[in-house]
Amino acid sequence: MRVYCAENYAAMSRRAANIISAQVITKPDSVLGLATGGTPVGAYQRLVECYKEGDLSFAEIRSVNLDEYYGLSPRHEQSYRYFMQSNLFDHIDIKPENTHVLNGLAKDPAEECAKYNQLIEDLGGIDLQLLGMGHNGHIAFNEPGDDFGLETHLVTLTERTIEANTRFFERKEDVPRQALTMGIKNIMRARRILMVVSGADKAEAVYKAFCGRVTKEVPASILQLHPDVTLVGDKEALSKLIEAGVAVCG
Ligand code: PGA
Repeated sequence: MRVYCAENYAAMSRRAANIISAQVITKPDSVLGLATGGTPVGAYQRLVECYKEGDLSFAEIRSVNLDEYYGLSPRHEQSYRYFMQSNLFDHIDIKPENTHVLNGLAKDPAEECAKYNQLIEDLGGIDLQLLGMGHNGHIAFNEPGDDFGLETHLVTLTERTIEANTRFFERKEDVPRQALTMGIKNIMRARRILMVVSGADKAEAVYKAFCGRVTKEVPASILQLHPDVTLVGDKEALSKLIEAGVAVCG
């Protein structure tokens, strides 16, 4: 694993965007696995700037997103489809038909999940998977205790995740209780993983994920077994890793 320690959120975002840009430039038809949440927003902004400056094209890029709330329409402002459109897709030259987000309104969630697994396979697998991490070590909506062998599936969100996501909704009752998510197995099959983490409140989760035991109780800990992981964090989020003596690049 390579760890890049950035001075602050802006520098973390630039570094993450540079890594994604390098992937896009060296393989213009890459399959990018994309993530939502607060942490990647700055990296997406930087990618949009690179596109507008003429340094990057997404014309041949295909994308698959990690997850989507179950029960939310793609037009709902808190849906992850809406997030991707407003933070990235609407501002770059990616072809709409090449962007894939699970359908939160699918009548048959099991069928939607099976189709998504097939789609990822048909695209040739994920070249670079971007990930954030929850305070409980979740990646996508793979919550503590979930099986590492799962592919895309329907999950019931934990109270902690619902609590963390309440900030995006008017009321806690409005936060969906279920989601469709890629499983750990889909994520682990990606050729490269790029995780972004920011803020002191993530330091404990980062430490447990990368210095602790590999355990289902900390889903991100499975990444210790992936051969190509890059972790980009600001110094607050990485503070406990650094204290533990993990080597970091500047
Ligand atoms: P955040 O979410 O980037 O909004 O902190 C990360 C996650 O829950 O995966």
